Amino acid sequence: MREDIPRLTPLVVRAMAIVEGFIQEQIDGFDRELGKVAREVLSSGGKRLRPMLVLVSGLAGDFEPHRLKKAAAALEFFHNATLVHDDVIDEAKFRRGRSTVFSQFGEKLAALVGDFLFSQTFILLSSYQDVEVLHIMSETGVSLAVGELAQLRNLYQPNLDEQFYLKRARDKTASLFSSACKIGATICGASSSAIQLLGRYGESLGIAFQIFDDILDIEGKTEITGKPVGSDIRDGIVTLPLIYAFKELEGKLEARDRIMEIFGQRDPSESEVREVIGIIRQTRALSRAKEKALGLVQASSEIVRNFQNQELRSNLESIGKFVVNRYN
Ligand code: IPE
Ligand code: IPE
Ligand code: MG
Ligand code: MG
Repeated sequence: MREDIPRLTPLVVRAMAIVEGFIQEQIDGFDRELGKVAREVLSSGGKRLRPMLVLVSGLAGDFEPHRLKKAAAALEFFHNATLVHDDVIDEAKFRRGRSTVFSQFGEKLAALVGDFLFSQTFILLSSYQDVEVLHIMSETGVSLAVGELAQLRNLYQPNLDEQFYLKRARDKTASLFSSACKIGATICGASSSAIQLLGRYGESLGIAFQIFDDILDIEGKTEITGKPVGSDIRDGIVTLPLIYAFKELEGKLEARDRIMEIFGQRDPSESEVREVIGIIRQTRALSRAKEKALGLVQASSEIVRNFQNQELRSNLESIGKFVVNRYN
């Protein structure tokens, strides 16, 4: 499900090709049952956003693609591990336009494929012999698990607080964006202030990315997202558009009650999912969620202005634009 790609500078485009070659080399070496399934997952057309962030952030220091490629691949392995596990948690049947590992092989194999990929991540990262890099990655693993659990604990509760949602998005999605940036910059010996700034850039962009993903769940096309429309509503996942809609409907108890009724029985039918989407669409929730996401992309681009390096700035800006355009 490869979409339009960010407009990266030729230096980074070449570096991405090196990373892609390295990923291929690594996954070609994956053997036996788990390795083969992991290879399928890695070849199924992810956007490779996290490796991109690793590389681009490396521009804040001594940019060496051949040194960065292991970390870039590691972040992609980690990301794919989280997706394989996430699809078990969300009981998701489709991703990137294909059947998920969970739906094809069941949760036991999916648990193991995820573990296999997490471990491959740490094999690659440990080769840098830099405890800080391992620490950043491990902390992200903790945040992710915390964020995924927070989401599970709040299923079918549209009355959720926006701040709570933002914390969850930070934990489950933005932490990985942020660590991709920090790891790339750390490996290339960037200054600690640059590493910090890039971490903040990744965090802002990552939250925006999750909000856009939530919007796409309601407004997107399956051909583009590779996922069925309305999955979050079907699963009772409370996303930002739903939170905004529910709040806006404070005076319209009928619509609110209807959402509660549909969620209350769990497992909504297709027409009920469409009904909830219809209710959300009647409010300003989608445009407000989009505004919120755009504000976060704007905040990330203000962070970019702290850098003098034009090559770094231009690539960071392009990734921001890509995150926005993916929505449009
Ligand atoms: C999907 O991330 C998970 C979310 C954070 C919403 P991506 O959309 O970056 O996944 P792929 O790798 O490109 O499929
Ligand atoms: C994405 O979660 C972030 C992860 C922790 C893997 P979602 O459940 O929102 O992402 P999709 O919709 O499955 O890609
Ligand atoms: Mg999911
Ligand atoms: Mg999920």
